Amino acid sequence: MSRVHNFSAGPAALPLDVLETIRDDIPDWEGTGMSVMEVSHRGKDFVALAARAEANLRKLLTIPDDYAVLFTQGGATLQMSMVPMNLASPKDTVDYVVTGSWGKKAAGEARKFCSVNIAADASDQNFTYIPDESAWQRSDNAAYLHLTPNETIAGVEFHFLPSGDTTLIGDLSSTILSRPIDVSRYGVIYAGAQKNIGPAGITVVIARNDLLERAPANLPHLMTWKAYAESDSMTNTPPTFAWYVADLVFRHLQKLGGLGAMGAINERKAQKLYAAIDASDFYSNPVREDCRSWMNVPFILADASLDGRFLEGSAAAELTNLKGHRSVGGMRASIYNAVPEAAVDALIDFMAEFERTNG
Ligand SMILES: Cc1ncc(COP(=O)(O)O)c(C=O)c1O
Repeated sequence: MSRVHNFSAGPAALPLDVLETIRDDIPDWEGTGMSVMEVSHRGKDFVALAARAEANLRKLLTIPDDYAVLFTQGGATLQMSMVPMNLASPKDTVDYVVTGSWGKKAAGEARKFCSVNIAADASDQNFTYIPDESAWQRSDNAAYLHLTPNETIAGVEFHFLPSGDTTLIGDLSSTILSRPIDVSRYGVIYAGAQKNIGPAGITVVIARNDLLERAPANLPHLMTWKAYAESDSMTNTPPTFAWYVADLVFRHLQKLGGLGAMGAINERKAQKLYAAIDASDFYSNPVREDCRSWMNVPFILADASLDGRFLEGSAAAELTNLKGHRSVGGMRASIYNAVPEAAVDALIDFMAEFERTNG
């Protein structure tokens, strides 16, 4: 068996442990004589899996009892529409802090449903920083304030949460489960699965119960969070395989010591990679130091004509998916939970050697 070090931004690496369990489970899942893909989502075995997944996610994130945990489809992108659909009426104003491409996209979706106030926008510096909170232009009566706590493309992350009591909505797609968070600071959290949760196809929404009541009555059933809450996320046939893998990942994280343990590892991984970049004139990271992401580390080579050679060399060294997003250029190492510290060490060694031979 040969496994590479996979720095993909998503769909991203999954823990080997989990992949091996999947392999062993495929023909006969939990003694059913069937794979998990072949059983009814309403059968007792799958219903038990769904309950366990929710319980484990609640434990991992210490989700308060007055929050619903929903498993939906449509990715984080559909939630960018479902947030305004469920929380705002056409006469409402909602605030968005735009610190990257995903937040910009979310604001664009909200404009279809209500008035959007861009409270802050970091596009003036190519999304390399988070505007100081004191300069945000928030509305007086916003129905909510939307943030993207980790912007996956530019690698910009909030290391604080805004003040005030406006309902906070967070797209945590690329940071959820990377460390402990205070769920109670948010009204709604949403996250596509394909970074730290499991395979693409399932989306986690964590919503405070009172917010489920705000949706207009004419909203299509599947667009309504309350419908998922009332049906244990079995509103229609759910993505059972993705749900099954998410359950395995949650159990795997518990075994590793939970999010406190993951946070310590993730911080160390990120710090050593940034330290290596900062120590060199050959590589640089354009993001302001106090808002660098622990999960997505973009870096550019001083001589961009070497990009192709870097990517070829790194792939040959079994370090894959390092090409940066086209809007940023250069490289990006996504170092989610399932990317081991050894992969980061191997990348740092490769970078040093590449600099030595090409610098
Ligand atoms: C922060 C963030 N939000 C939203 C998305 C879009 O997610 P999806 O493809 O699940 O709709 C992504 C991309 O993967 C992302 O990184």
